[in-house]
Amino acid sequence: MFKIDRHPRGKFLLIFWVFFVVGCASTLPKEEVFERNQEHFDRRAQTYDKSFDQWVAFEPAHNLLLREAEKRGLSPEARILDVASGTGILALRLAEKAPRGEIVGMDISPEMVEIANQKAEGFPNVEFVVGNVEAMPFPDETFDVVTCSYSFHHFPDPDVALEEIHRVLKKGGKLYIIDPYKAIPFGYVNWALDQIFEGPIWFQSARGFRKLYQQHGFQKIDQKRQLRRLGIVVPAILTVGTK
Ligand SMILES: C[S@@+](CC[C@H](N)C(=O)[O-])C[C@H]1O[C@@H](n2cnc3c(N)ncnc32)[C@H](O)[C@@H]1O
Repeated sequence: MFKIDRHPRGKFLLIFWVFFVVGCASTLPKEEVFERNQEHFDRRAQTYDKSFDQWVAFEPAHNLLLREAEKRGLSPEARILDVASGTGILALRLAEKAPRGEIVGMDISPEMVEIANQKAEGFPNVEFVVGNVEAMPFPDETFDVVTCSYSFHHFPDPDVALEEIHRVLKKGGKLYIIDPYKAIPFGYVNWALDQIFEGPIWFQSARGFRKLYQQHGFQKIDQKRQLRRLGIVVPAILTVGTK
């Protein structure tokens, strides 16, 4: 049997394979990416809250995002949209910080949305809806705050996603995106693993995020890095901007 570590050109072939998969994935038509993402996350929805990722990546990311939002004076009355809200963990934590506000979570996966809505029973000001970041079902200038956690790398067209987010934010509203990013060396390891196990993804660099925010009219751009939990390296970056 072929074994990567015994084969003289094994490492080269492995690297070639990763780049081949990445190359193929990044040229997929958008509609196919959306379909794959929906199927992938529909399949994962039931076990999503118990995954190792929650502990090592998502929970620390949510903690950082919530801390920074509070520092920036998150209003208890804020209207908040959590884009790609998954099973609703972050949105429900946001609801605790904005008890007199209105919190909407939106996700492309109907299974994720169903689970999130079950958890939201008893929260009259929280609702989850199915939707795609590229065509969000909300009027212009609806929200004071938009959040997006560990999802931006699943969006095939970052410009369209940011344009839509900018459209639904009120003037002076704040955008918080936390996402894994191209950090040397662990960000690249993370990127290769996600590419293999999660399907097509697109990591930005820290600079790439700042540039995207600037190009889409955001101001007062600020970034915070989340690097580790109990010594395990989880490179993610929070980028905050004001419309
Ligand atoms: C890794 S999960 C993160 C979920 C949640 N934000 C969290 O922090 O736990 C990525 C989510 O992005 C959603 N997603 C992927 N592509 C999307 C799109 N084009 N529009 C809306 N949601 C999308 C998936 O269905 C999935 O729930």
